[in-house]
Amino acid sequence: MAAGGARPWVLITGCSTGIGRALVPLCREAGWGVVATARRVETLADLPPGEDLRVLALDVTDAASMAGAVAACADLPLRGVVNNAGYGQTGPLELARSEDLRAQFETNVVGLHAVTTAFLPLLRRQPAPRIIQVASMLGRLSIPLAGPYNASKHAVVALAETLRLEIGEEVAVVLVEPGAVRTEFQENLTRAWGDLPERARGTRYEAVLARYLAARARGRSQGIPPEACARRIVKALVANRPPRRVVIGRDAFWAGKAKALLPAAWWEGLLRRVFGLR
Ligand SMILES: NC(=O)c1ccc[n+]([C@@H]2O[C@H](COP(=O)([O-])OP(=O)(O)OC[C@H]3O[C@@H](n4cnc5c(N)ncnc54)[C@H](OP(=O)(O)O)[C@@H]3O)[C@@H](O)[C@H]2O)c1
Repeated sequence: MAAGGARPWVLITGCSTGIGRALVPLCREAGWGVVATARRVETLADLPPGEDLRVLALDVTDAASMAGAVAACADLPLRGVVNNAGYGQTGPLELARSEDLRAQFETNVVGLHAVTTAFLPLLRRQPAPRIIQVASMLGRLSIPLAGPYNASKHAVVALAETLRLEIGEEVAVVLVEPGAVRTEFQENLTRAWGDLPERARGTRYEAVLARYLAARARGRSQGIPPEACARRIVKALVANRPPRRVVIGRDAFWAGKAKALLPAAWWEGLLRRVFGLR
């Protein structure tokens, strides 16, 4: 029997917390072997060991780390990859520096692409392989104070749609577009702030940021649990014919509809009001 047994295997990026973490037990329950990866491999130490689990260090922005992960999977019947790793930034676009934008794209876009191309040769060895690209509802619409993140997720949508056209039926490419999910994501949003509050002081954005923080504190428990999001991803992963697009959450569904149906001025007015930008 091949290493890893007869079961199909999936590699998942960003399993330290959140959606990636929730995916690990659900994929295993579905009978798939899981290569759970994280930047800090010690964050995976509490995963129950088994023949259906391999844990690896993988920073999607680090070429050496990527090469190590590919080599460590060479003996596995890898049939799926879930590009889940990602983070968001909060702040007005006018104050976003080039390095902030570059860092956002380095992880969410370049990293996702690098993982995709690095693992495609392994995936192609299996029947009906699939790649799941975790975008966001913010890959289809933009909200204020999330410019770099909006842009990165729009880029993920474009990459997935292009790859699907080019790669044909050989590999299924699934776009996952969640709305709000209760994970570490929200807490991590302001981690990348650095000195943003100082740079915003005295500008029109000072009050906007303060209102944003107050609203976020009130809405801390908003969003679906990560397990609910992960269940939808697993359904797509294990499907005989994986769907092209999985929109997850009522907010993602209705926001998409509202943007498509409302006149642009109404839609923008609504967003400005919600974010206190009038
Ligand atoms: N939560 C939401 O509301 C929401 C909505 C739509 C889409 N999403 C997307 O869902 C995905 C998962 O996010 P989440 O909500 O589960 O947030 P999360 O709990 O913050 O998890 C993000 C994961 O990505 C990892 N990561 C970040 N940079 C990385 C890098 N350079 N290399 C490898 N891993 C890296 C993090 O690892 P560390 O622990 O090392 O930082 C963490 O494991 C992201 O792509 C996010 O954009 C989230």
